Amino acid sequence: MTTASKGPLACRRQGPLRGAIAVPGDKSVSHRSLLFGALAEGETRITGLLQAEDVQSTRRAVEALGALVRDEGDEVVVTPPAQLREPAEVIDCGNSGTSLRLLAGVLSGVPGLSVLTGDASLRRRPVRRVIDPLRRMGANLHARDGDRLPPLVIRGGPLLATQHVLEVASAQVKSAILLAGLSADGDTVVIEPERSRDHTERMLSGMGVPVTVDGLMVTISPARPRATRVDVPGDISSAAFFLCAAAGLPGSEVTVRNLGVNETRTGLLEVLEAMGATVERREEREVAGEPRADVTVRTGELRAAVIGGALIPRLIDELPVLMVLATQARGRTIIRDARELRVKESDRLAAMGETLAAAGARIELFEDGCAIEGPTRLRGVSVRTRLDHRIAMSMAVGQLFAGPAEEVLLDDVACVATSFPTFFELLDGLCEAAR
Ligand code: S3P
Repeated sequence: MTTASKGPLACRRQGPLRGAIAVPGDKSVSHRSLLFGALAEGETRITGLLQAEDVQSTRRAVEALGALVRDEGDEVVVTPPAQLREPAEVIDCGNSGTSLRLLAGVLSGVPGLSVLTGDASLRRRPVRRVIDPLRRMGANLHARDGDRLPPLVIRGGPLLATQHVLEVASAQVKSAILLAGLSADGDTVVIEPERSRDHTERMLSGMGVPVTVDGLMVTISPARPRATRVDVPGDISSAAFFLCAAAGLPGSEVTVRNLGVNETRTGLLEVLEAMGATVERREEREVAGEPRADVTVRTGELRAAVIGGALIPRLIDELPVLMVLATQARGRTIIRDARELRVKESDRLAAMGETLAAAGARIELFEDGCAIEGPTRLRGVSVRTRLDHRIAMSMAVGQLFAGPAEEVLLDDVACVATSFPTFFELLDGLCEAAR
C-alpha cells in the first residue's frame, strides 16, 4: 500500500475495519481557541489543538495581528497583545473558510486596514454572507466580483449593536457577527433559521463573555474574553470517515475515544443508527465546556435514510462520506435542504455526484441534495479532488466498498493535510488490525 502526502495516490485497501483510535482535535474548536485566545485578557493554554494546515492559517493570522503563539510540551500557549493591531501584510487563510469568515468579524472592530485572501478554492467561496451583516454594524468591507468573492478588504472601526436574521444556518456567519459584537456599542443579536454548531457561544461564555441562547436566538454583550484552558475534543467530522466505513463493511467495529459529541455536531451518529448500524457511547463527560464520549460503531444491515431539515447543519461536513455510505444501504436515501454543500471547499454535491456515478452508484442530483439507490457494489474510479480534503477522504472510504481488486485513484491528496494529515495512517492501522 502506498501512502503519499501530496500528488496522486492509488487506494487499494481491504476492509473490515477494527480497532480503537483517537482522532485529531476538532477543527472548529481549534480555530476558535487560537482566535479567542488572541482576543482575551491573559494567556490561553490549549491541549489537543489540531495540527493541520487550516489551523496553521489561523495561527499565522493571529500572529500577524500581534498575538504570540508558542508550543510548550503538548500545550499551545497564546499570549494576546494589549490590543490587536493592523496587520502589515495580506493575511492568507489558505483553504480555510472558517479562518476567513471569523477573522472578518474580528477585524471589523480593529482600527486599520486588513486584507484576507486564500487559495484557489477559498477564492471561489462566497463572502457576501459576512459582508452584509458586518456592514450593517457599521464596518467597511469590500470584496472582488461585486463583493462576492475573496480577497476581502476590511477597514475596521467602531461598531453598532444590531439584530440579524440569517437566511442560512451558518456557524461561520453567526460567529463572525458575534465576534464583531464583542466590540459593538451594545447587545448584538443573531437569529438563525436552524441551529448551527455552537462552539463560539460555549467558548466565549466559558471565557466570561455575556452570551445568552434562547432557541434560535443568540445575544452577546460587548466584553473582552478572559483567558482560560481549552482542551480540544476529537473531531467528529474526521472520525466520520472511519465510523461510516465501519457501519458499512461487514465484520467492522471501530471505537473513537474522546470524541466531541456536542449535540449540534452529532447528526451523523443519529443517521448511522437509523440506517441500522450499532452506535454506542461510553464514558460520556464534559471537559472545558464541550461534551465528549468514547463512541463505537458496528456494522449493521443498512437501510436507506431520509436526511433533511434541522439535521443538515448538524452533519453538514459529514454528508460527502454519508453519500458514499448510502450506496451500500438498501433502498433510496434522500438528502434535501443541503444547498450549502455547493459552496464548501468545492461544490460537494456536484463532486460526489459525478464521482459516485462514475464508480457505478445510482445517484440523482437535486439543487439542494440527492437521491441514492442502493445497495451497489462500487467500482474503481479516478477522482478529481478539487482542493477538497473531504472529497479525497470520502472516496478513500468509497474504495473500501469497491474492494481490494478495484483501484480508486485520487489525483492529489495534498488537500488532506488541511484537516487530517494522519488520515491514511489511521485508516491503514484499522485495516491491518482486522487481519
Ligand atoms: C464551521 C462551520 C461550517 C462547517 C465548516 C466549519 C465552523 O460552515 O461546514 O467546516 O467552524 O464554524 P458554515 O458555517 O459555512 O456552515
